[in-house]
Amino acid sequence: MFPEVEKILIDRNRLADRVAQMGAQIVSDIHADIASAGGNPDEPDQIVLVPILTGAMIFVADLVRQMPLRLRLRVVAVSSYPGTSIASRGAMLASELPRDLGGKHVVVVDDILDSGQTLRLVNDLIEKQKPASIRHCVMLQKDLPIPPAIEADYVGFPIPDEFVVGYGLDYDGYYRNCPDIVTLAPERLHDAT
Ligand code: IMP
Ligand code: MG
Repeated sequence: MFPEVEKILIDRNRLADRVAQMGAQIVSDIHADIASAGGNPDEPDQIVLVPILTGAMIFVADLVRQMPLRLRLRVVAVSSYPGTSIASRGAMLASELPRDLGGKHVVVVDDILDSGQTLRLVNDLIEKQKPASIRHCVMLQKDLPIPPAIEADYVGFPIPDEFVVGYGLDYDGYYRNCPDIVTLAPERLHDAT
């Protein structure tokens, strides 16, 4: 589909298998949380997934369909890699934060954990609302020499420190619709800023 793809790092079948495993794991962990507090997971208004736009769109769409739970979705937008940059410029909230997370079991979902600034920002803002629990789930985590600003509870795949696109991840807004996680030929990447 995209001739500028250099190599496929994780193909769509491995992504789908892993998403199914992650969904099952999250469901079982939230069930356990609610049960240990004497609650019933089928009661409404307890579980909220917070996908971080735009990168988490594709992942969360697949993930929620592997989670047979009575849950709501509340999106939040964070901007960290503006335009053609391929290094984080620091995370900035780019939308309102969902307000009704107090007392809820919250799962924050993102495409990739890199420096961790994005998840840290969203985590700290949500914590102020005093959720019953907060978990972090990412499809990918970059293998970096320094630990991220926050750890994720669920990681689909660790990957080397390379710039990747596809399955929701973009370069300058493109390639999110590539079904596999891929790298681009280096001459396609112009870190202009
Ligand atoms: P962090 O705040 O440094 O952890 O960066 C996380 C955000 O940066 C993710 O939500 C992605 O949108 C973006 N990002 C990090 N690494 C990549 C990459 O290799 N390709 C595309 N986007 C990335
Ligand atoms: Mg993102």
